[in-house]
Amino acid sequence: MTSPRILVIEDDTRSAQSLERLLKSQGYTVTLCHRGDEGFERASGEDFDVVITDFRLPGVGGLDVIRQLHAKKPRLPMVLVTAFGTTETAIEATKHGAFEYILKPFDVAELLEVVKRAAASARLMNERVELGEEKSAGEAIVGNSRAMQAVYKEIGQVAATPATVLIRGETGTGKELVARALYQHSDRGSKPFIAVNCAAIPETLLESELFGHERGAFTGADQRRIGRFEQAHGGTLFLDEIGDLSAFTQAKLLRMLQDKLIQRVGGKENIPVDARIIAATHCDLERAIAAKQFREDLYYRLSAVVIKLPPLRDRAEDIPALASYFLHRFRDELKLTDSSLPPDAVAWLQQQRWPGNVRELANVLRQGLLASRGFPISRETLAGIAAKSSDTSALTRDAGVSLEALMDELLAQARSGADLDVHAKVFAAMERELFTRAIKLAHGNQAQAARWLKMSRQTVREKLQHFGLKAASEEGELLISP
Ligand SMILES: Nc1ncnc2c1ncn2[C@@H]1O[C@H](COP(=O)(O)OP(=O)(O)OP(=O)(O)O)[C@@H](O)[C@H]1O
Ligand SMILES: [Mg+2]
Repeated sequence: MTSPRILVIEDDTRSAQSLERLLKSQGYTVTLCHRGDEGFERASGEDFDVVITDFRLPGVGGLDVIRQLHAKKPRLPMVLVTAFGTTETAIEATKHGAFEYILKPFDVAELLEVVKRAAASARLMNERVELGEEKSAGEAIVGNSRAMQAVYKEIGQVAATPATVLIRGETGTGKELVARALYQHSDRGSKPFIAVNCAAIPETLLESELFGHERGAFTGADQRRIGRFEQAHGGTLFLDEIGDLSAFTQAKLLRMLQDKLIQRVGGKENIPVDARIIAATHCDLERAIAAKQFREDLYYRLSAVVIKLPPLRDRAEDIPALASYFLHRFRDELKLTDSSLPPDAVAWLQQQRWPGNVRELANVLRQGLLASRGFPISRETLAGIAAKSSDTSALTRDAGVSLEALMDELLAQARSGADLDVHAKVFAAMERELFTRAIKLAHGNQAQAARWLKMSRQTVREKLQHFGLKAASEEGELLISP
């Protein structure tokens, strides 16, 4: 994967250079411009993934750069950096196309986090998702089983309509990929696609994240905030993990779907919002309704069109194509061009249950490739990796098994003679739980979580990767390499 290209528009040479150094150290490719008009020209003519612009600039001001560029390139995420005195305008900027704004003097970790999110968002919008094809470049939804063909047909039928779509399926079955495909094949493909992972944001912050808030709406709300619904006006809003919404946010979402109106938190004004909603969940919504955790009326509103993704175990015939697709992708990425997958290894892959579905299959293949270092990947190698990857983390993550239940289960297995390291498995599950909670509470901010856990950011990042957890800001594994 190529490194994301960032255009920095900043007139102060020293700030520009330090930003450049910082971004380059994270693996980004950086271009500097010192004037607003010059920045606008460059961004219009070349392909950048993210633009970072200062507010006060010679030539054309930062706000106008944003307004004009947004009109020209609505899928280009832009970050406005500004001094505190200009916050009101900066906030307005998010309405006129800025992805985010940052106040000076800024916290380096915060800036990097925002740039990372912006780059991930650029990728969500711009990398095409092909349907049913094995492409060596770019991403594809792979698989030609009947179940997947039905999915492609549904995507084709509803993509270009304004209909709200609910995507269902177990973890790792490709819900996010389908959301992107729907967006790209819609008539809103040139407008923004804004993704919010509802499960990764604490309940107290989610409402304001989605709907925005007025100044003074609650303690800490010292400035107005434009929410994601308003930002997605004219475009598409992807609400991921919708099963995790609180009752109150569910009510507000229902109102938006019915009347196309929202209110910011602490505000009285009804703001019209025209956003196409795509929602996804792995939750059993019917059960949540029975338990009074999910509103039935909202469920009906959302499920006018439902696309259900089959679990991988129900379409084992797609595994050879998927394996070859991932092998090609990872081979290029890891520069292990001689690797291959013998037929008996493919057959073995087809016999597994894959509780983590396509994501798990991809992870096992990736590790298999690394472990085999250019030699054919044997089924023994794959079996060893899968045994490690799918144990406790898959159990606790997918089935919602509590730590207590896990301990009981493992001890019972050990008692009946199973050869397993109960202690290691329980501690791994516990650690995973701790990191899940910390990163959720930190609103996806790894630096913040690291401070609370008294660990280095590097360790937190490694742990999150190890446990297959994603920060809110990383939009799944779609994060690009820096
Ligand atoms: N049919 C497919 N073809 C190719 N890649 C796929 C397919 N399905 C899933 N993937 C890949 O598997 C990974 C997981 O997919 P995705 O994030 O869309 O899953 P999800 O259903 O949203 O899971 P979760 O509920 O855990 O969020 C991604 O890297 C995605 O690219
Ligand atoms: Mg997902």
